[in-house]
Amino acid sequence: MKKEYAVQMASSNLRYGTGVTREVGMDLKDRGIQRVLVFTDRNLANLHPVITVREALEQEKIEYDLYDGVRVEPTDVSMKEAIAYAQHGNYEGFVAVGGGSVIDTAKAANLYASYPADFMTYINAPIGQGRPVPGPVKPLIAIPTTAGTGSETTGVAIMDLTDRHAKTGIAHRYLKPTLGLVDPENTRTMPPVVAAASGLDVLCHALESYTAIPFNQRPRPERPIYRPAYQGSNPISDMWALKAIQLTSQNIVEAVRNPENEEARSNMILASSMAGMGFGNAGVHLCHGMSYPVSGMVKSYQPPGMKTDHPIVPHGISVILNAPAVFRFTGSACPERHKHAAILLGAGDDSKDISPEEAGSILCRQITHLMKQLDIPNGLSAIGYTRDDIPALVQGTLPQHRVTKLSPKVASEEDLYRLFEDAMVAWEE
Ligand SMILES: NC(=O)c1ccc[n+]([C@@H]2O[C@H](COP(=O)([O-])OP(=O)(O)OC[C@H]3O[C@@H](n4cnc5c(N)ncnc54)[C@H](O)[C@@H]3O)[C@@H](O)[C@H]2O)c1
Repeated sequence: MKKEYAVQMASSNLRYGTGVTREVGMDLKDRGIQRVLVFTDRNLANLHPVITVREALEQEKIEYDLYDGVRVEPTDVSMKEAIAYAQHGNYEGFVAVGGGSVIDTAKAANLYASYPADFMTYINAPIGQGRPVPGPVKPLIAIPTTAGTGSETTGVAIMDLTDRHAKTGIAHRYLKPTLGLVDPENTRTMPPVVAAASGLDVLCHALESYTAIPFNQRPRPERPIYRPAYQGSNPISDMWALKAIQLTSQNIVEAVRNPENEEARSNMILASSMAGMGFGNAGVHLCHGMSYPVSGMVKSYQPPGMKTDHPIVPHGISVILNAPAVFRFTGSACPERHKHAAILLGAGDDSKDISPEEAGSILCRQITHLMKQLDIPNGLSAIGYTRDDIPALVQGTLPQHRVTKLSPKVASEEDLYRLFEDAMVAWEE
């Protein structure tokens, strides 16, 4: 096998600044776009970010329809509804105002409105056919309201396949939004549970992309077009990931507890986009791969303080609950990286104090310290899972090759079983 020797960095255009949402009408007008569909969800429809977008479009006389039917944690069913809506309005472009659920739904709607096909056509193999997106899609401006998924920077759209109780997605560079408007003003109204969950998603994006298998240990593609979006850890993604870990470590608790603190909020939305630039090119691994069945098989859990009409494990929570077990497991594969991340999370400045054998456990200790401060449930058992669910959780993780194969340490079926067992309880009470 010839080893990979190159990395390709791709990202959306981003514009960062407080109040930048007000520029969206001018952006569309300057691109000659006169008619758009605005995607959001019902909670956000009457909140500041959507109101600001509507005012900005009206000011520039951009015609628009508002689609507020996005499901929080989208499914194939909810995405098909959004696609049907997008296909019939002669829209010249799209605007997504919301968290990852809204931005991902807009990406899928844009794709299938541009290139109609059976839903499984572009879904990642082996679950779907994994066919590449045939060409450029219509312009999409993404305006995140969580900090967050980094979806404004990536070519990834994630959804639950209802019949299979499993999450999967579509990943292609053509799905990247044309422009991301990253405005700290838009995250002010996040309920604490959403701020905590989405902030811990940022942390896992950064930790997983930094500890992923190095890009030059993957096989070299025959043609540049076959180089995947998720390429493994690499020197460019590392810079974004490390800065995102540092910013998250310094700001997440304050941003969750005090949403009026503009500096903490601004740093968290910056961290979110930075982590997105990193993982959008490096990829994520086991915390995410294991999270998909955790959210797909949700039983009756409804997070306190989150408005939702269905049981839900918020994405960030489904990811962070696996993190302590995962990093204990991967620590030995790249101890220096686990140690560096632990130090950025406050494990003490003197790296001599941390031996390679304990790097993974020390990183876990720092993660669980943050989880406790943010009132995160203590492991999978605290959101309704028991040991009897482990075989199904493992079976739900096995097809997530696209991310699990980026783990720095190969995880066999037996390893996954043990990882879920370990993830049942995150810390001793
Ligand atoms: N495309 C990617 O690269 C990528 C990366 C990570 C996660 N995801 C996906 O994104 C989804 C999760 O997105 P998320 O964590 O951003 O949350 P979300 O979009 O699911 O929203 C969570 C809840 O917060 C509310 N909310 C969002 N912003 C708000 C605000 N400013 N004020 C008040 N309420 C607000 C929403 O209405 C919703 O009830 C999952 O489906 C996940 O799989 C995608």
